[in-house]
Amino acid sequence: MSNWVREILPPQPWQQFASIYSHPRTARTCVRVLQDSSREGSLPPTMKTQQVHYLQKLLDQNRLKPERDAVILDLACGTGDHLFTFLIQGRQGRGIDINPYAIKVAEKRALGNWIALDLERAPDRERTFADLKGRAQLVYMVYGTWCTLSPPTRIALMDEISRALAPGGVFVFDGFTYMHRTKDSQESSFKDAPLLESSESYWSDWGGFWGFFPTPITEEHWHFPRQALRAEMYTLGGVKFCTWKQGMDPHLEGSKILDRYPDFEVIDRSPGSFGVNLPPEEGGKWFTLALRKTVENK
Ligand SMILES: C[S@@+](CC[C@H](N)C(=O)[O-])C[C@H]1O[C@@H](n2cnc3c(N)ncnc32)[C@H](O)[C@@H]1O
Repeated sequence: MSNWVREILPPQPWQQFASIYSHPRTARTCVRVLQDSSREGSLPPTMKTQQVHYLQKLLDQNRLKPERDAVILDLACGTGDHLFTFLIQGRQGRGIDINPYAIKVAEKRALGNWIALDLERAPDRERTFADLKGRAQLVYMVYGTWCTLSPPTRIALMDEISRALAPGGVFVFDGFTYMHRTKDSQESSFKDAPLLESSESYWSDWGGFWGFFPTPITEEHWHFPRQALRAEMYTLGGVKFCTWKQGMDPHLEGSKILDRYPDFEVIDRSPGSFGVNLPPEEGGKWFTLALRKTVENK
């Protein structure tokens, strides 16, 4: 084969590559995107306010009043806008995010406990949860990060959340349902095969994640129909970035959690993201799932 033909190989499902959110090349510009609500990938302040109202309602309905040592935990907190609303009410909170620059922005607020860590990395995660046993009244993950975590991480994280929650405490996350971008006929004939949906090389002049200088980029989108899984892969300057996105059935996801944690109950399973109606993500509809821990911590 002549060497100018680029060989395109699919990634293995959930194979870990560089994260746009934490790589030195992109982490700073990601924060700029997160703070600019005119960009795709960022929520306008009005929507964040609505989401905080949803969370406040969960606290009120479940009589989770501020108590000594009680904390609210924001997982994948970005710059911490949601959590900050609770901190200025006098609640204690911890925000966790992989992006050290987002955490730096959050730290400027001088309230709260902000930690830069990759939730996929077990030892760092375990260390950060170690002192929380039974203290968390509310744990939440806003804007789809649950669907981007690998299945083993979701299980391990759920174990840690379960230990961290106080009796009656609530865990809530949002996600999106299965994605239907490819034609059904194609999906059923190649159920096991990864599908290359698109591959293109271009110069980015967007000024978004990649920064403000034009950059040559190769972008590939892979779809793994059996797992309802999608890989968004970018290559620039020899570095491969990948974000995984798995569509979910909220009923099934809820049942899987209840099977493993019989002391939890589903208290909300509704469309949208924390009470906000967001446009489809990769063709999937948004849902919110809230679970409450019903028994005493051992
Ligand atoms: C779509 S943003 C949402 C940010 C924030 N929750 C909000 O609603 O504004 C996704 C966030 O997840 C963080 N993130 C992605 N993967 C992560 C991981 N493995 N561990 C921790 N944080 C992660 C990113 O840095 C980013 O801030």
